[in-house]
Amino acid sequence: MKLKIAVLGGDGIGPEVTHEATEVLRTVAELGGHEFTFAEGLIGGVAITAHGTPLPTATMDLALDSDAVFLGAVGDSRYGSLPPESRPEAGLLNIRQALGGYANLRPSVAYPELAANSPLRPEVTKGVDILFVRELLGGLYFGAPRWWNREGGPEGDGEAINTMRYTKAEVVRVARVAFELAAKRSKKVTSVDKANVLEVSQLWRATVTEVAKDFPQVTLEHQLVDSMAMHLMNIPRNFDVVLTENLFGDILSDEAAVITGSLGMLPSATIGGKVNLYEPVHGSAPDIAGTGKANPLGAILTAAMILRHSAGLDAEAALVEAAVAKVLAEGYRTADLARASESAAQPVVSTKEMGKLVRQALTEATDRQQSLHAV
Ligand code: IPM
Ligand code: MN
Repeated sequence: MKLKIAVLGGDGIGPEVTHEATEVLRTVAELGGHEFTFAEGLIGGVAITAHGTPLPTATMDLALDSDAVFLGAVGDSRYGSLPPESRPEAGLLNIRQALGGYANLRPSVAYPELAANSPLRPEVTKGVDILFVRELLGGLYFGAPRWWNREGGPEGDGEAINTMRYTKAEVVRVARVAFELAAKRSKKVTSVDKANVLEVSQLWRATVTEVAKDFPQVTLEHQLVDSMAMHLMNIPRNFDVVLTENLFGDILSDEAAVITGSLGMLPSATIGGKVNLYEPVHGSAPDIAGTGKANPLGAILTAAMILRHSAGLDAEAALVEAAVAKVLAEGYRTADLARASESAAQPVVSTKEMGKLVRQALTEATDRQQSLHAV
């Protein structure tokens, strides 16, 4: 299997965590005789510093010429006062748009090993395995008109506008992804909207209901976003595939990190476009960049999603996920996962050490599997 991966580490902890994750991919390649190649590009604040733009043409060309794009994180407070179109985040939004992936898959799994890390009681989080399907190219993030016209506008600088807009076709394509995935899982889709107030949500609900007719084996339920935010904390086990528009998905997927115990654990994959885009859900965390405190597991689990969704290596993806679970079961923790009360049984390790532990677990599991096959 050959795979060309563009690696865009980005800002803050992005480069550190993507490094550990690409090392995991190298291990997978070595163990399985695959040929993965990696080429690095700049995005976000580091690209503004080097080239004056958050998404240089060279990065875009590299991305479009790859089989998968692996992004770390963007965001740098030095550029925080710039208008939205010049900020590091614009690099991310522009590459999402250019690659064209509209379905952002964000799994939120409650690892039994981390049950004590969640502020939710273990009996609430036990067995939770939710897959958010967040629409990624529409809604308030991209709708026009949008402005905060500091010089003018009807009310001068006292008025600003963003537009929540969806077409039926945009809802259909992302809904189909959610139903197809649900058909392979627990056969339930929860669609989240605000149809009691917003016309956009009424279109969303009507369209999702129509798409559901093509998937009679899948149950569809609708939830309003405000009560969904509450149910997600009360009875997260009730949810399997959660389908929602861009901003609601942004908010609910961070909320779901509470179930896992740390935002540092969550991976994501964006599919449906020219090239799939992979990024952990967490941000650039500039305050801990370079300190070795960053949790690379979100990035490593994102690498597993590359194996599954771009390389067709489902078994290898599962092995990486199992290696992460094993290292956690052995008690190893990065700083975000460490709990003072368990410090004796849970050694706190650095970003690099955590990456190495996962690779060791992966190698051991693969060796074990091969010797089983040899018997
Ligand atoms: C995410 C992030 C991004 C988003 C930001 C950095 C633009 O929060 O991927 O969830 O809002 O989509
Ligand atoms: Mn977010």
